[in-house]
Amino acid sequence: PRIAVLFGGRSAEHDVSIMSASNVVKAIDASRYEVVPIGVSRQGKWLLAELDRDGALPKAVPERGTEVSLLPGGKGRLVAVPEGEAPFELPSIDVLFPVLHGPFGEDGTVQGLAEVAGVPYVGCGVLGSANAMDKDAAKRLLKEAGVPVARGIAVHAGEQPEFDAVAAALGLPVFVKPARQGSSVGVSKAGTAEQLKAALDEAFKHDRKVLIEEFVDGREIEFGVLENLDGSLTVSLPGEIAPAASHGFYTYEAKYIDADGAALRIPAELPEAATRQLQDMSRKGFLALGCEGMARVDFFVRADGSALINEINTIPGFTNISMYPKTLGASGIAYPDLVGRLIEHAID
Ligand code: DAL
Ligand code: MG
Repeated sequence: PRIAVLFGGRSAEHDVSIMSASNVVKAIDASRYEVVPIGVSRQGKWLLAELDRDGALPKAVPERGTEVSLLPGGKGRLVAVPEGEAPFELPSIDVLFPVLHGPFGEDGTVQGLAEVAGVPYVGCGVLGSANAMDKDAAKRLLKEAGVPVARGIAVHAGEQPEFDAVAAALGLPVFVKPARQGSSVGVSKAGTAEQLKAALDEAFKHDRKVLIEEFVDGREIEFGVLENLDGSLTVSLPGEIAPAASHGFYTYEAKYIDADGAALRIPAELPEAATRQLQDMSRKGFLALGCEGMARVDFFVRADGSALINEINTIPGFTNISMYPKTLGASGIAYPDLVGRLIEHAID
């Protein structure tokens, strides 16, 4: 079977996606599958890329070259348009593997394109992807399913929340986040009226809807969820992220720029009963948002043991420091096996 791997993308997580996709491509069994790498430029063009002689993904999306598009109703038919030459059709693809993070990749839009084109794809469907991408919608669905979440206020573009009202409702400090972003892009902490204003300005650069959330003092514990072919869910052992004190929280820099930005502990030290309880909550959260295939469920766990879901990522990072493949690896599902299962699940 032929697998089109999408990498790069229009979101602020373009570079993170390339790191993820290069690991995914390495883990695809080359004796079983043929990889067709397609780089998505920051402007949204799909460009045919090539693996190098060692079968590795290029380090960047090609700047120009052969543009490709997926034909509606085409069962994997891709049309290629080389610069200055006549369009032609590529061999059809059997599976689309979007290794894209954030808007236009993880949010249901590419998933919708694959649905319209009639191509099986890896990961969550349209609704689950869209629900998980929107932190405000996700919070409401989780709350309704009885899953604890941080208190928050959604602010739409043009609205000016009163600092005193925010402080009264959520306490201080607060976290301000674009509703639909990943990797902590545009996220900041605010403790004063000036900081709140600056944080809102920053977050509104990334989205028309912003979430102000209470600060939760707790450990960051994450679980990988993998859907099996029979529909049952495997939930991994817990992983913990301990961001270096210098970063304050798990910022984009702590994640991808500063090699010592954070330490991962897998499995996290957690009583067995607590692990089981959080694994149950992971399942519940996954289903509440309508997820399929895979997701990483991120918790905050307070000193008193109480826990809440911070967010669910439907195309979690596959970078060298990413928790999703590591927690599943620690649970007995090695990287190539994980990627193989995700693909089989898509084809099934
Ligand atoms: N959004 C990043 C890639 C993650 O959740 O791992
Ligand atoms: Mg995320």
